[in-house]
Amino acid sequence: MDLFEYQARDLFAKHDVPVLAGEVIDTPEAAREITERLGGKSVVKAQVKVGGRGKAGGVKLAATPDEAVARATDILGMDIKGHTVRKVMIAETAPEIVEEYYVSFLLDRANRTFLAIASVEGGVDIEEVAATRPEAVAKVPVDAVDGVDLAKAKEIVAAAKFPADVADKVADVLVKLWKVFVEEDALLVEVNPLAKVASGDVIALDGKVSLDDNAEFRHPEFEALHDKAAANPLEAAAKEKNLNYVKLDGEVGIIGNGAGLVMSTLDVVAYAGEAHKGVKPANFLDIGGGASAEVMANGLEIILGDPDVKSVFVNVFGGITACDAVANGIVQALDLLESRGEEVTKPIVVRLDGNNAELGRKILDDRKHPLIQRVDTMDGAADKAAELAAAAK
Ligand SMILES: Nc1ncnc2c1ncn2[C@@H]1O[C@H](COP(=O)(O)OP(=O)(O)OP(=O)(O)O)[C@@H](O)[C@H]1O
Ligand SMILES: [Mg+2]
Repeated sequence: MDLFEYQARDLFAKHDVPVLAGEVIDTPEAAREITERLGGKSVVKAQVKVGGRGKAGGVKLAATPDEAVARATDILGMDIKGHTVRKVMIAETAPEIVEEYYVSFLLDRANRTFLAIASVEGGVDIEEVAATRPEAVAKVPVDAVDGVDLAKAKEIVAAAKFPADVADKVADVLVKLWKVFVEEDALLVEVNPLAKVASGDVIALDGKVSLDDNAEFRHPEFEALHDKAAANPLEAAAKEKNLNYVKLDGEVGIIGNGAGLVMSTLDVVAYAGEAHKGVKPANFLDIGGGASAEVMANGLEIILGDPDVKSVFVNVFGGITACDAVANGIVQALDLLESRGEEVTKPIVVRLDGNNAELGRKILDDRKHPLIQRVDTMDGAADKAAELAAAAK
């Protein structure tokens, strides 16, 4: 989960990283009073989860409370790279900025390690610096067990050639940012710019944090950080029902048991779709081992509620949960949906294999549900589902 700048700022403050005061608002008029409290001037900052806000006109200085209201009026509702600005932060203005640096920690998947990235040429042009003069950007691997202590922080500072007068302060910030990274279970912690101001202090003026969703179980406080306004409604409904669902952009709804099987189902459907008007999978949905009627009904309800879905492919390999239980689950799920008043009209291709497959298939055949078609191989079922989706497209 990516955080907004103000949420990152709050996490930084919690771990004593130097930041400036600021408040988040969604109506322009509220900027006046906050700016008065901040001493009569402020910086109005668009809160969107995308970089380059400054260059897009989403970060503006306001010299008076009235000006803050005017800038907030301009910025709220703006579109920045496809993200609508719904909130702005009214931030304290940094004292005179002398230099702008870049520092970050991230998970370096390709090299199976963590990585520190630092540059004394930070600011809004960091992408340009990284692309044209990579030597100006230091990259230092960080061992997962050893982490970043003061010695490691000094190594990063030296690699990036920070000036001597800020070296200790930057090292101190790096140790604290590493604490943010570890204790908050982040995948990315980035500060750009880390500003050196006239007094010689360094301040994190902008922060980007991405938290690891897999760690949510030990962070009940993550829940409050979700951006409910921006969430995909189908994904939100699936999350509510504890389903592992990811919306994709195709037409064939997919349900399977086990993440590996569902992933290969996506591949097989995408391949089959090439012969059927290029239809593609509409989603990933793993209903897990149990596959009870209720879980199946919840899964079908989400998928059938997706207007992009033209056909559904239920791909189940019976293991501990045998195919007869799954087959009963499917027919009961359709009954359950009908009793909930849902009109089911999309064709459903079912492939059952594995434990008790024969019995499961017989249950489906005996039921003779007009929307269910049984195909016993994965490739054959994928082809049938793609064909049906293409016909309805
Ligand atoms: N509180 C502040 N006081 C003074 N200047 C600020 C403040 N916040 C930001 N700035 C200036 O505005 C510039 C852009 O702001 P910021 O880095 O927050 O947004 P951004 O453009 O989204 O960043 P990025 O390029 O990292 O995506 C900063 O480099 C800094 O010079
Ligand atoms: Mg920035």
